[in-house]
Amino acid sequence: MSNLSLIKPYKEQFEAHLKKAIPNLCEKSKLRDACEYALLNGGKRIRPILVLMIANALQQGKIPFDACLSVEYFHTASLIADDLPCMDNDDFRREKPSTHKVFGETVALLASYAMITEGFEMIHRAAQGFPGEVGMLALACATKGSGLQGATGGQFYDLFPKGKTLDDVREIIEMKTVTLFEVAFTFGWLFGGGDIHLLEDVKRAAYHFGMAFQIADDLDDLEQDNWNDETPNLALCLGQEQALFLLEGELSAFQSKMKKLQIFNLEFHELLDLLKREPALPA
Ligand code: IPE
Ligand code: MG
Repeated sequence: MSNLSLIKPYKEQFEAHLKKAIPNLCEKSKLRDACEYALLNGGKRIRPILVLMIANALQQGKIPFDACLSVEYFHTASLIADDLPCMDNDDFRREKPSTHKVFGETVALLASYAMITEGFEMIHRAAQGFPGEVGMLALACATKGSGLQGATGGQFYDLFPKGKTLDDVREIIEMKTVTLFEVAFTFGWLFGGGDIHLLEDVKRAAYHFGMAFQIADDLDDLEQDNWNDETPNLALCLGQEQALFLLEGELSAFQSKMKKLQIFNLEFHELLDLLKREPALPA
């Protein structure tokens, strides 16, 4: 396991920024406390880290913290909703009681709505000082990523799958997971000063990263005792060996897209090590 020496500073910077941002959300209330609880209960922060890493790789001296907050707010909204009794009914998230277990379902639902809306507010802030087109492109990506073609639609098909074929599972991953990575990559690129004409290539890179991320997560899930076989899982669909093969393919496609964009560096190399998985040893 890599020691994460290159990635850790980004996480620390983001955590510090997030802690400062929470009191500015609104006056203190149970609703704000629920948002704070959901935001500060120990996420890996992979999406904001990606925003910062992409902006840094562009070497234009821009550090888009507001865009980082935006994508983590969207992600947090999706996790609060995902745990609710009417969804996955999970009492725990990141080994701590889920938001509705601490604050009740009503407040948790409102916290999820609030996090989506505040995510859009942060795009508005991030776009200050950029040409109007940059803000519009960021907004378009975030609306798709959070809406019916993105996380919300993906959550629906996750709970009510069209079927259990590989294509069905791939579609859910594309909608539910990949779209928020597209948002992270797009924000890092746009607010890091990247060329808007290359945005489609950036989204292709995000696609491969998001796919790899979810395949790795699905492989890990299969090894856990509390695995629920109702949840669509690509590693279950394909078998471990094929899933590992697909993961390798996505990681190398990601790497070549990033190289084409001239933003692949040692930091991304360190990040990719986190997604690599080895075949399990025979029992
Ligand atoms: C969880 O995402 C949801 C998936 C898309 C698998 P993360 O694994 O990034 O969640 P946290 O924020 O680190 O807990
Ligand atoms: Mg869940």
